[in-house]
Amino acid sequence: MMQKILITGGAGYIGSHIVEKLVKTNKNVFILDNLSTGFRRLINKKATFIKGDIANTAKVKKIINKNNIDSIIHLAAHLNVSEAEKYKKKYNKNNIRGTLRLIEACKNSNIRNIIFSSSCSVYGSINGSVDEKKKPNPQGHYAYTKYKGEQIIIKNSKKYNYQYAILRYFNVAGASDSNKIGEIQKSYGHLIKNLAIQSLKKRPKISIFGNNYNTKDGTCVRDYVHVSDLADIHIKSLKYIDTKKKSITLNCGYGKGYSVLDIVNIFKKMNKRLIVNFARKRPGDVAQIYANITKLKKTLKWKPKKNDFRKILKSAFKWEKKI
Ligand SMILES: NC(=O)c1ccc[n+]([C@@H]2O[C@H](COP(=O)([O-])OP(=O)(O)OC[C@H]3O[C@@H](n4cnc5c(N)ncnc54)[C@H](O)[C@@H]3O)[C@@H](O)[C@H]2O)c1
Repeated sequence: MMQKILITGGAGYIGSHIVEKLVKTNKNVFILDNLSTGFRRLINKKATFIKGDIANTAKVKKIINKNNIDSIIHLAAHLNVSEAEKYKKKYNKNNIRGTLRLIEACKNSNIRNIIFSSSCSVYGSINGSVDEKKKPNPQGHYAYTKYKGEQIIIKNSKKYNYQYAILRYFNVAGASDSNKIGEIQKSYGHLIKNLAIQSLKKRPKISIFGNNYNTKDGTCVRDYVHVSDLADIHIKSLKYIDTKKKSITLNCGYGKGYSVLDIVNIFKKMNKRLIVNFARKRPGDVAQIYANITKLKKTLKWKPKKNDFRKILKSAFKWEKKI
């Protein structure tokens, strides 16, 4: 049966990529977004767009019941890590209370599946590979709000009778093959986005925060996932929880750690010039974290398609040039 799906945050970077894939086979895709950090140009015309806030339980309830929605992919959140430290209440309100209000709208509805965008930051200080059995230990405030979001989804699943998939994203990068959508928001300070912006400058330069971490070259090591592969993971997860009637928590990465210098070197090989400036360590940055993705691969029978780093950079640069 064709599902009726509501995507919160569908006018954002990752949400728009999930929508782009879903509308290829499904006419019943609804986007709820307040456009606080999203963009009209990322809204897919084949989906129904509703401007609104996840915290407006009455409105969400109406949308769910009127359209007979059975599945929610919940991406709407604030995600600026340093802003979260300064404005904790703003993040509590949107990421924690907003998630609770959204879930309350599922009471007495046909909702049977919920997918939640979580983050590898919920694990806290890890040194190396991490699997889903590791007890979360969020350090920064953004991570804390994502962890609380997970708890709300899990706690209410029996009460409201739905299965859930908690997807813990590692670093997301790249743009769609169609080159119609990609990352626009600059304020998050994502490394690949910054490199894409620099790739268009006459004298590209980049700051690396810390060069004496306990890693192979002293710079931080992170795991990445191409946004197109991540969108596929959502579609497969939805199918899995819907057919198996089981809930899951999955790491979403490639299971490989790249240091900042590794990425800088790939960039240099592609673009030749890059001025590198070493700056002080940022508070809260762990030395290295990458995903153990055994469970992801086994559960969803998923294989990465876009895990060539040059291709990730190329797609991010192509999109940057377009916008
Ligand atoms: N980008 C990453 O690397 C990354 C990593 C880990 C987790 N995540 C999670 O993925 C999700 C999506 O992130 P993104 O990178 O696409 O960011 P984004 O800012 O592009 O998308 C978030 C969207 O949610 C909307 N939104 C925010 N609050 C809302 C509210 N109260 N009501 C309705 N809409 C609201 C925004 O307008 C925006 O369109 C977030 O939940 C984030 O925590 C992202």
